[in-house]
Amino acid sequence: MSCFSLEHRLPAGHFTEALRADALKGLTDQPKTLPPKWFYDARGSELFEEITGLAEYYPTRAEHEILRDHAPAIAAALPAEVHTLIELGSGSSRKTRLLLDALTRHSGLERYAPLDVSPDALRQAGEALCRDYPGLRVTATVTDYETDLTLPPEGPRLVAFLGGTLGNLDTAERRAFYASLRRQFTGTDALLLGVDLVKDPDTLVRAYDDAQGVTAEFNKNVLHVLNRELSADFDPDTFDHRAVWNAPASRIEMRLRSRLTQTVALPALDLTVDFDRGEELRTEISVKFHRAPLTTELAHAGFTVHHWWTDPTTRFALLLATPA
Ligand code: SAH
Ligand code: AVI
Repeated sequence: MSCFSLEHRLPAGHFTEALRADALKGLTDQPKTLPPKWFYDARGSELFEEITGLAEYYPTRAEHEILRDHAPAIAAALPAEVHTLIELGSGSSRKTRLLLDALTRHSGLERYAPLDVSPDALRQAGEALCRDYPGLRVTATVTDYETDLTLPPEGPRLVAFLGGTLGNLDTAERRAFYASLRRQFTGTDALLLGVDLVKDPDTLVRAYDDAQGVTAEFNKNVLHVLNRELSADFDPDTFDHRAVWNAPASRIEMRLRSRLTQTVALPALDLTVDFDRGEELRTEISVKFHRAPLTTELAHAGFTVHHWWTDPTTRFALLLATPA
């Protein structure tokens, strides 16, 4: 019997419908926006993996350092011996291995339940984990943690949300996310959250505008997704990648700026979209945090932060929280 299962939890056609709704809303908004979840088709997931190895993109390395140095302390700090590790937006699950090692050593971890919108990423990661962790049950779910965050019931559970992906949600989206998590948490569950920290704008902008142009390709991938899924006729070469530090909102914004005045057709939506020359489409926000406001935000959502670990140069943090 294989130790790996992959469940598509949302009904067939859900993602196409959700993409249609997001594109219709976002491309007719002022300013134009698209949610970042649509980057991650097979190519987008590959490009993200490439980003994690870039010299400029420090978050993955920094979080890896924290897990390398503190995974046993994290396992020891949990309110109960964990039965199930759930990971949201798990991607390649590469860093997760440090957590799996610590949890299998410390407690009787039986199940790893990764959840992601990308079936390709889940399949690749799950099959590799099954080879390397015999005895661990890997139950992957293709779904959207914003609209369908149902946690497997077998506790005690640790929910990991790593990589700084929380920062891809705005304040209202984070509030909704915390609320749906909090509703399902019992006293033996815990949340391990990886967040990127505020630092000098140059370092931040470089992390999102690398010299090799991999992040630019990742950004433009969303246009390829719209072309394929909605028969749109975006010409990605007519858009420039931009990474901007929005200081008042404490976030990096990725944008695509139209080089010319143009009209794009999305026949599947019966829609045409006009772009002025220089007009920008915002494709992602990546919020950077300070400890105190994030702790307060979590407290308002019913979570108490018990531990805060950082990498040696304080670029990134991992926090452990439980229901208040
Ligand atoms: N946690 C990994 C991957 C981060 S990339 C790491 O730290 O390296 C973000 C991941 O979240 C991608 O795998 C993407 O497919 C997934 N993702 C983005 N939005 C999502 C959503 N709304 N629901 C589920 N998964 C999502
Ligand atoms: C997945 N997420 C946390 C990444 C980030 O840094 O916001 C996505 C990314 N966008 C550009 N580079 C990486």
